[in-house]
Amino acid sequence: MAAARLQLQGCGTFLAVSLKADICLGRSIGSFGLAPDLSCKALLRRRGETKLTSVTCAPMSAFRSNQLATLRSPHYYSATYPRRGAIVTNKFCTRFGTNNPVVLAPVGGVSSPELVAAVSNAGGLGIAPVWYLDPDGLKAEVRRIRSLTDKPFGVNLNMDFRSEAQLEACFEEGVEIISLFWGDTGDFVPRAKAAGCQVIITASTAEKARAAVALGADAICAQGYEAGGHVEGTVSTIALVPAVVDAVGDVPVIAAGGIADGRGLAAALALGASAAWIGTRFLAAEEAPVHPTYRAQLLAASEDDTDRYDDLYDLSWPNAPHRALKNATSKMWEAAGKPALGQRPGEGEVLARRQDGSGIVRYTSASPNAALEGDIEGLSMWSGQGVGLVTKIQPAAEIVAEIVDQARAIVTF
Ligand SMILES: Cc1cc2nc3c(=O)[nH]c(=O)nc-3n(C[C@H](O)[C@H](O)[C@H](O)COP(=O)(O)O)c2cc1C
Repeated sequence: MAAARLQLQGCGTFLAVSLKADICLGRSIGSFGLAPDLSCKALLRRRGETKLTSVTCAPMSAFRSNQLATLRSPHYYSATYPRRGAIVTNKFCTRFGTNNPVVLAPVGGVSSPELVAAVSNAGGLGIAPVWYLDPDGLKAEVRRIRSLTDKPFGVNLNMDFRSEAQLEACFEEGVEIISLFWGDTGDFVPRAKAAGCQVIITASTAEKARAAVALGADAICAQGYEAGGHVEGTVSTIALVPAVVDAVGDVPVIAAGGIADGRGLAAALALGASAAWIGTRFLAAEEAPVHPTYRAQLLAASEDDTDRYDDLYDLSWPNAPHRALKNATSKMWEAAGKPALGQRPGEGEVLARRQDGSGIVRYTSASPNAALEGDIEGLSMWSGQGVGLVTKIQPAAEIVAEIVDQARAIVTF
């Protein structure tokens, strides 16, 4: 059967869809639920609105190499992603109104409104970590993102530092998607749902995913052991994702941990996930305010250059295991026999300073962002095992497009 790619061209109130290149024509028709000689209607949700898309196809026998079908809804596919106009039937995309299944994971301390908006503008879903901001800062962050994109985006709250004021600030700002991670969500899920938000909960086992769905989660982020930053569980992504998929029925699962390119996205989809939640790769995005020293370490690192620690960087956030690049701090601590807090080498030593002059001491949980000055290499340089695939600095939109293109060469979605 002829291979085909859907490509959109503006044409008044209609979009013409010409078929060429790399999606199998037979499969793409099937995935849209079209009988070859019938027209159909597809419902596409975007930001709470429902857009009705009417697709009309000629009989298969009438298809030539440059066949045209017509597609109503000229606004759905944005100009930012004109080359990839394939109709989205993916569960995650449908539920969250995105054009592709790439999620910018919340990367605390090294995210920016520009990064979040760039990923959303590229058709993915940007998620902003806001759990360390006070309510006014949170609101300002949301407004700034909104000024940069009219596409869906989410915010991320940390349940180990659960804050009523932050949740209220989200409601006041009309945040539509809230991601919750780490620990007891209290009554946040029902309240967020009652306020009309969609809720994504990060889980590290199938049992926790099931519990999250029972609370009302709209999607599960299944975070595997390979992930960078704080990592609750010890199950690898490849074992975790299908277990979670089997546990949660129809709820979309987003795979996290070690996914850094289109092969990873394709693998996640093959495991039954509907999207990939990607952190480390986006640390190399131009829009990410990552300190140059940290970034250089990331670009140079191989898959073997990270470790997962139970309690290495536990000042400011205890009892929260994490994965980071091996560095001078981890090596001196290991050489000393991994002593507990109070007996560690270099304890109390100020390694770097923030813009306000406050110091960051060794063993603090702190993302090395561009505003810091000092011994950056000794800080907690969070990183997932996929870091070996991170080799160049690129605009975030290019990263999204590259991942999607590469995955589409492997699987249809
Ligand atoms: C620098 C950095 C900061 C992170 N901060 C957060 C955070 O604030 N909230 C959160 O839910 N996850 C956080 N994570 C975890 C990511 O959301 C995600 O699960 C992880 O990056 C996925 O694995 P990967 O790094 O291999 O792509 C962080 C990860 C990194 C690398």
